[in-house]
Amino acid sequence: MTTPSRLGRRIAIAQPETPDIDATLGRLRTVLESGSFTNGVEVERLEHEVAEALGVAHCVAVSSCTSGLMLVERCLNLCGEVITPSFTFFATAHGLLWNGLRPRFADIDAQTAQIDPRSVARAIGPETGAILGVHLFGCPAPVVELDDLARSRGVPLIFDGAHALGATVDGRTVAAWGDATVYSLSPTKQLTAGEGGLIATRHAALATALRQARNYGKGVAYDCEVLGLNARMTEFQAALCREGLSSLPASIERRRRIAAIYEQELSPVEGIRLQTIPGNTTSGRKDFALFVRTDQGFRREAIEAALDSAGVETRRYFDPPLHEQRLYREFHDPDREPLTETMRASREVVCLPIHRGVSEADAKVIAGIAAAVSQGVVAVSR
Ligand SMILES: Cc1ncc(COP(=O)(O)O)c(C=O)c1O
Repeated sequence: MTTPSRLGRRIAIAQPETPDIDATLGRLRTVLESGSFTNGVEVERLEHEVAEALGVAHCVAVSSCTSGLMLVERCLNLCGEVITPSFTFFATAHGLLWNGLRPRFADIDAQTAQIDPRSVARAIGPETGAILGVHLFGCPAPVVELDDLARSRGVPLIFDGAHALGATVDGRTVAAWGDATVYSLSPTKQLTAGEGGLIATRHAALATALRQARNYGKGVAYDCEVLGLNARMTEFQAALCREGLSSLPASIERRRRIAAIYEQELSPVEGIRLQTIPGNTTSGRKDFALFVRTDQGFRREAIEAALDSAGVETRRYFDPPLHEQRLYREFHDPDREPLTETMRASREVVCLPIHRGVSEADAKVIAGIAAAVSQGVVAVSR
């Protein structure tokens, strides 16, 4: 059965950035022939290449962004509350619970959809152990303001940089801010290792502790001192990722061209608002989010239904927000912080496909469908 579509095919919400297959197979063959599948040279080389590309002193490769966040929080010996947004993926906060820490949810800014420093300032108190920002959708969080807040309170600043490859502030990658930034290499990201994570940090001691912690906690001798995990990246993952690294700038550039088309077509449309990206920053464009003004009677479901029947998959990243999910409800007190913008964004958000399977012509059609529904040119109900 074929799907009725103005695009002639289905477009998934995500598609892995597959590097050149023959070159990748060559790299995998080398790993197989080496007989060294873990703790080997591929991971080490990947770490050097990424540290150089990000402009940071140290990069530690791990099994995922989730395990990376868990280990960073562990190695920094955090305690108490950690201020973080609720409008994010649940893995942002999972590491906190694994470490016995309490998330304290901050609201987001209405324009940028990033954690709002004013809300963070209100949340800071004697219990604050750290600030955990998120570079949402690949656009930088307000790094300078968060850095000031963390310094004034004397607590670490960590970034969930799962989406952040390609994100820069004043010409520097976002890894230049904070004590550590943890990137994700899962298949929906701008660069993939199948699964994997990269921790960027300027602290040599933290990098050493993380290398120990990802390897069960084993030190130089066979005598464990600290509690670690097996959170190592395999040589196969590192080889795949190294091949992808060379095409990363082109992948990000392609995503930016798609985003520019979406922005051009959708920013004048009544009933739709878009994430503002500050002028001194660039976004790695992990996702493209539009927000449907449901408060003005515009219907998100109608846009989703029209795109679905045209063969275009969309996602509600991130609805419901963390503080409304069963695992996290107990950590939220609406009297302390109502999270008004978080609630609004989660009710309005729709993410459009932005990956190598979306051509510039596709992007025009996709945006055109969303615009036509919003402007009432076509009526769709669900
Ligand atoms: C904001 C955010 N943080 C963390 C993660 C978890 O990354 P990983 O799957 O590499 O553990 C994701 C995954 O998409 C994410 O979107």
